[in-house]
Amino acid sequence: MAIIADDQGRIFTLQTKHSTYQMKADAQNVLLHTYYGEKTDNSDKSLLFCRADRGFSGNPYEMGMRDRTYSLDSLPQEYSSFGTGDYRITSLRVQNKDGSQGAELRYTGYQVQEGKYAIPDLPAVYAANEEAETLVIRLADPYSGLEAELYYGILEEMDVITRAVKITNHGRDDIVLKKAASMNLDWEYGDFQWLSFYGRHSMEMNLQRETIHHGIQAVGSVRGASSHQYNPFVIMCEKGANETMGSCYGFSFVYSGEFLIEAEKDQIDRTRLICGIHPDNFSWILQGGGTLWLPEVIMTYSGKGLGKLSRNFHKVLREHICRGKWKTMRRPILINNWEATYFNFTGEKLIDIAKQAKELGIELFVMDDGWFGNRQDDSSGLGDWFPNEKKLGCTLKELAERITAEGMRFGIWLEPEGISEDSSLYRSHPDWVVGIPGRKPCLSRGQWVLDFSRKDVQDYIIKRISELFDGIPVSYVKWDCNRAICDKFSGMLDGSRQGEFAHRYVLGLYRVLEELTEKFPEILFEGCGGGGGRFDAGMLYYMPQIWGSDTTDAVERLSIQYGASFGYPVSAMGTHVSTAPNHQTGRVVPLSTRGCVAMAGTFGYELDLSGLTLEEKGEIKEQIGRFKKHYDLIQRGDYYRITSPLEGTCTVWEIADPSGKEALVSAVYHHVQANPVPVRVKVQGLKDEAVYQLLLNEDFKETYPDRRLPYGFGPGEVISGAALRQFGFLVPEAVNGFQAWQIYIKECPELGS
Ligand code: DGJ
Repeated sequence: MAIIADDQGRIFTLQTKHSTYQMKADAQNVLLHTYYGEKTDNSDKSLLFCRADRGFSGNPYEMGMRDRTYSLDSLPQEYSSFGTGDYRITSLRVQNKDGSQGAELRYTGYQVQEGKYAIPDLPAVYAANEEAETLVIRLADPYSGLEAELYYGILEEMDVITRAVKITNHGRDDIVLKKAASMNLDWEYGDFQWLSFYGRHSMEMNLQRETIHHGIQAVGSVRGASSHQYNPFVIMCEKGANETMGSCYGFSFVYSGEFLIEAEKDQIDRTRLICGIHPDNFSWILQGGGTLWLPEVIMTYSGKGLGKLSRNFHKVLREHICRGKWKTMRRPILINNWEATYFNFTGEKLIDIAKQAKELGIELFVMDDGWFGNRQDDSSGLGDWFPNEKKLGCTLKELAERITAEGMRFGIWLEPEGISEDSSLYRSHPDWVVGIPGRKPCLSRGQWVLDFSRKDVQDYIIKRISELFDGIPVSYVKWDCNRAICDKFSGMLDGSRQGEFAHRYVLGLYRVLEELTEKFPEILFEGCGGGGGRFDAGMLYYMPQIWGSDTTDAVERLSIQYGASFGYPVSAMGTHVSTAPNHQTGRVVPLSTRGCVAMAGTFGYELDLSGLTLEEKGEIKEQIGRFKKHYDLIQRGDYYRITSPLEGTCTVWEIADPSGKEALVSAVYHHVQANPVPVRVKVQGLKDEAVYQLLLNEDFKETYPDRRLPYGFGPGEVISGAALRQFGFLVPEAVNGFQAWQIYIKECPELGS
């Protein structure tokens, strides 16, 4: 039983394998948050609160003359509301008919449901009935008829609790939601740091760790999508927490649109975290009887540091967010023509790339941007999803069939949300562009945005793509989105509802994705937002992988993939080996290093193969063989960050089989030094009592001088799991700039004494 309600139905304890979450409806029917952390019993933890009269923190009317220590401004709450005595950041702000902004949410009841709740029209964690339970807590404003139902999904074994909110207006008058967050979490103390992930195009997911100070700290997006600039994922942790020790809490917003995650340390050093749709571009009219579901937040707690917290997220996203055939099937190794040709290709050139790729063991050819309409560069053609047969020299069907006849699968790039001014679609539907009437909308990459909040636009896109794919062997789609949204306005919404546009756009996008993925269950969809501009748990519900960044430089990718690893699994991270010098940075990195870094993701290639030497081709064949051989370990193993690319000389990560029978350690020297400090790897996730062999770059095929072997090991020697955990081994030194080593650790029961 993951949900325990006390006899009076007022204290609710949620138990996962290693964590406990508790809330309590007090005598005033305020729903207090009483605990979240290390697993404990079901006792009433509100007894541990400290209460005192805090001047200028008022008291609800019924308490004002009786107990001045009772204030909504200082009590930890489950779902806070603005305007009625809580002056901190709050989760709900409403505007009533008379213009007043206030709601008093009071507990009215609860319900326990079997299984995990689903959210209509929004992505959410799913689970079999025996894997999850749902708690619904009802709060209502006695004056207006507004009800907030707080949904909690408990996946006990996964150490995961999800939260979502359903708001209903049971009154007669309209209520405007000005801010409606998905969760509020209050801690009784204030000694936190938070980890957030900031960036920019081509340089996403930079880790930032900051102390939560008095005041408000926030990350968010008002760009229409979750954005390159801040990821909708944060971690709150105690100050000393590291990869293996300390308390930490993670929050992943299952939403691909505008978001705000705020933290406030208040006047008495308590901490509040709020996560939800960004209120800046949001106001939603709820008519009498109307309902709005708010997107889900996935929460997990780890008392054993950041590594465990990340592995909890990897598992829940991989197994309970990603869906469809490609969730578990081995995904094909692809080659994408973008960095090989950009817009400059013919059908023959593409077939040539596909043929050469096939010889190396690559399985899927992806035709990127430029195959449709009048699209010779990025200034025109978006929206015209009709093949440019003149450029291709054949029909799309013929091209796809010639590629599949070579033994390759065929994939295609689309940017359905984009529209060029110079396009037939714009000429016939100028009203479909997002823009404020009477003004020219801002261009970005020379393009505009199609109004996906409109049902007619959604229907058109679903129909056009379905017709385009009809009779063509399409195995893969890269769904790109190359600009942020501004000039927000939809011709289908009246003036008072324009604040609904940004959220309706995301709902429209989700509807299109749901229909297309259902219609084409065989197709592997990969998300892309000009790289990592929409890299979030919401998109992973429709597409199990997302192109991580437009930077393919392996050294830059180290920190992008390191940042992403805190909240997202390897199987979600789109990665390719590209050419040297790298097109974004000009850096020259060995092919082996490019392969090693790309293997920390979905793995593919994006370069002109015709320029490669025979030796390089041989190396690529060998990389592909290695990746295929270790596919399950890499994609589904337990991921450990050993050292960081942000410090020291060498970035090391490890992926261990959950049973402890094997592990793959990857090490890349991101900074080469003379006389370097040795890099020690203490291997995790192995069995202490088992014995293992360390195989350098797979199988010691090359004749390395001894000093490059992991210190102390000769071919064939064994070492115990306990020794590998406690003392570890030293990564061989670098002899080239940006050298990579992969060390495969294999249990050898036959060699044990
Ligand atoms: C941005 C993507 O991230 C690239 O990989 C490529 O597909 C271009 N768009 C094409 O325009």
